Amino acid sequence: MLTVKNWSFKTTQKLVVTGKAPGDDGFSINIGDNEDNIALHFNPRFNEGDSQTIVLNSKKNGSWGAWEEMKFPYIFSPHQEFEVTFNFNDQQFDIKLPNDNMMYFPNRFGVFKFKHMHFEGAVRIHSISIT
Ligand code: GAL
Repeated sequence: MLTVKNWSFKTTQKLVVTGKAPGDDGFSINIGDNEDNIALHFNPRFNEGDSQTIVLNSKKNGSWGAWEEMKFPYIFSPHQEFEVTFNFNDQQFDIKLPNDNMMYFPNRFGVFKFKHMHFEGAVRIHSISIT
């Protein structure tokens, strides 16, 4: 697991993550305050039951909320470099996926700043930038 702590991601900023997923398993990008408090869990799934699905959820004090999912065939083609861009306000996250696809998720924490991010599962992260 790759964890980034003590950082600052604010509503006026843009977070860009690039990487590559081997595609035999899912992975997640998690943005929040710590591992038990995740405002955005971004979870592409390849071969788990619902394949080619991206699950979005939040976790509060260790408990998952109600998830939302989108079917997006071949957005994360195995072994192909991907780029995902996140920005947010106190109401909502905007997630820009490859090929100009967008996803949205409510900012259930209603805050303007996050300080923690972690990555789980089968993924190689190539770059993380905040501008
Ligand atoms: C669970 C899964 C977690 C997380 C969660 C999202 O089934 O084990 O890793 O993805 O769904 O709701």
